[in-house]
Amino acid sequence: MLLGKIVGLTTTKEFGFIAEARIKKLDYVSIKDSEGKWVLGIIDRVIAERGKTKGYVKVIGYRDKRGFLQTPRIPFSPDTPVYAAEGDFIKKILGISDKGAYMGLLEGYDIRVYLPVEHLIKKHIAVLAKTGAGKSYVAGVLLEEFAENGVPAVVIDPHGEYHTLSKENKNQKELRFMERFGIEPKSYQKQVKVFGINKGKPIKLNSKLSAEEIISMLPKVTEAQKGIIYSVVKSMEKREYTLRDVIDEVLSAKSNAKWNLASMLESLANTRLFSANPTGTDELVKKNQISILDLSEAKPELQSIVVMKIADELFAERKRGKIPAFILVVEEAHNFCPERGFGEVPSSKVLRTIASEGRKFGAGLMIISQRPARVDKNILSQCNTQIILKITNPNDLRAVIDSIEGATEGLKEEIKDLPVGVSLVVGVTEHPLVVDVRTRRTEHGGEGIEITEREEKEGGVLLFKKVTKEDDIKRIYKGVEDIVLINYPLWRVKTKYKGRVLFLYIDGITGEFVFQKNGFLERTKNIRLFAEMSPSERAVIVYLLNQKAATIEKIAEDLKMPVSKLKETVKVLLLKKYIETDGYMFSCKFDLDVPDFYQTQVALKPEKRSLKGITLEFMVPSSVAEKTLSVLGIGAESIEEVYYPYWIITRKGSKFAIDAITSRIEIDLIKWISRLL
Ligand SMILES: Nc1ncnc2c1ncn2[C@@H]1O[C@H](COP(=O)(O)OP(=O)(O)O)[C@@H](O)[C@H]1O
Ligand SMILES: [Mg+2]
Repeated sequence: MLLGKIVGLTTTKEFGFIAEARIKKLDYVSIKDSEGKWVLGIIDRVIAERGKTKGYVKVIGYRDKRGFLQTPRIPFSPDTPVYAAEGDFIKKILGISDKGAYMGLLEGYDIRVYLPVEHLIKKHIAVLAKTGAGKSYVAGVLLEEFAENGVPAVVIDPHGEYHTLSKENKNQKELRFMERFGIEPKSYQKQVKVFGINKGKPIKLNSKLSAEEIISMLPKVTEAQKGIIYSVVKSMEKREYTLRDVIDEVLSAKSNAKWNLASMLESLANTRLFSANPTGTDELVKKNQISILDLSEAKPELQSIVVMKIADELFAERKRGKIPAFILVVEEAHNFCPERGFGEVPSSKVLRTIASEGRKFGAGLMIISQRPARVDKNILSQCNTQIILKITNPNDLRAVIDSIEGATEGLKEEIKDLPVGVSLVVGVTEHPLVVDVRTRRTEHGGEGIEITEREEKEGGVLLFKKVTKEDDIKRIYKGVEDIVLINYPLWRVKTKYKGRVLFLYIDGITGEFVFQKNGFLERTKNIRLFAEMSPSERAVIVYLLNQKAATIEKIAEDLKMPVSKLKETVKVLLLKKYIETDGYMFSCKFDLDVPDFYQTQVALKPEKRSLKGITLEFMVPSSVAEKTLSVLGIGAESIEEVYYPYWIITRKGSKFAIDAITSRIEIDLIKWISRLL
């Protein structure tokens, strides 16, 4: 179909034409060059000018005899007719293959875009976009394709959103789009295997750790402590040993530095992640298997340790040819391989190694992040394929543009304007492709969908209504440079206490109790730690809190605990510095400030509303909140999500959290919130 004729100045790379038919940005056009070859172009801009529509075309080129993409050497002549390009021609010139991972349709066309599977394993992929733009969704699409093509994948899943690959997509809205993409609902239950902390098959890490591994897993290690670790590990090198053995050896060291070290190792061992029977690499990487490592119940530090240890072993075994080629998918990559300056975490090193050497050995990496500016630049630049969805943050845009070879400023504008679910695919073909990501065959497990579904069903989520307005805050705190509203997650637990119905709140991020005192929200400090102790440890703590001080014999008698068992418990508690002793009497140092539930009930009532602002995700699942309650002897009748509003302001470059109901500055809160934003 004729679209119009070329006018004005032309070069070999671009030209304009007056439209005689309807044209849109990103439409493909074909033109014959002066040598008679058909050339493909794409409409880059459309401008309406004095009643006329003018299209500006970027020339893509033609394929030469050897199949290479070439651009004409002579500019197009004025008056050359511009035609709408035909599907087959577009495919041929762009180099879109006919098989591989079916990702979606070329935006505006009925042309399926397949990514070559080989390419995906051999060259790393980055999926980059702001929150809610569709990263996890497109990652889900690719995982479905890996399953279709038998490509083994291991998914680092910090939010527990990928297990739904085993469920058919039943979302009504999405079912309607399936026909357009030519797909049908399907479950990959047989191929998906979930490993987790408390769900799926338990993840177990090899307990025989090298000195370097131990050091990188601990938060802060002094030189003296490093010395102890090296000598202890060296002394055991020749035999099998576990983390427990390391602790015992550390305790028999001479140096005083051992106490803190043993206590740190103790908390590592208490995670119960380490075992002499670790999860095998051959269990994780198998032909036709997608392994999901659901880390949603682990704290961030622990998540990074798991990634470090597992990625390390997978890569080592792959190098030795013990497991097939695979792809490692890392969600929230900024947390697992942060850019220097944003902190070093245990998993940084191995991910850097896989990024630079993985391709040689058939260990592919798929990095997913909403903060490209905070992902290790070296890793990003090793990703030859980029799937970019909408990004608006200038720093993140800069980082993305910098990581793409030959990217133009125009590309930046394009990325800002991408609608949800539409992606720019760079690096698969010579020219970036704009792909309308297909609907998933399986259910999407991401957060977004739950919130929208709930809103539709029940007209909102439970929310405490903010009292202060943006303007109020700006008036109270002068010189505010930036202000955002956040919705802070809390678990609302309905319970009966002393015969009356009571609503209690548990912080959805820290797992601590939230209560009200003098009108302000307060949080307990150590409930989470307390709940994680063993029953005998808890018994001793509670006893000593009530008794102030007691001897071993007295404690044993009152708690009806055998002295030998008690001694073991006491040893651990001493190590953790939760109790102390003068050698005879034991007393409690653990600060357990359980409030009187009845006196400190949160008096405010949440209402059903729709969420505005930034919503922080729950990091403590309801099951853990319930467990904490049960430790304190409270049963839950029901438990539901609610959100509490805070303003986050930036003043003189520092961030503050302000309770949006009481207007109080929350000093402690900002420390952990800012890590999440
Ligand atoms: N290609 C798509 N088709 C249909 N819906 C999509 C698509 N991409 C994203 N969405 C919708 O947008 C929401 C957010 O996408 P998600 O992938 O979870 O975002 P994020 O980038 O934060 O990982 C999803 O819940 C889904 O409803
Ligand atoms: Mg996501």
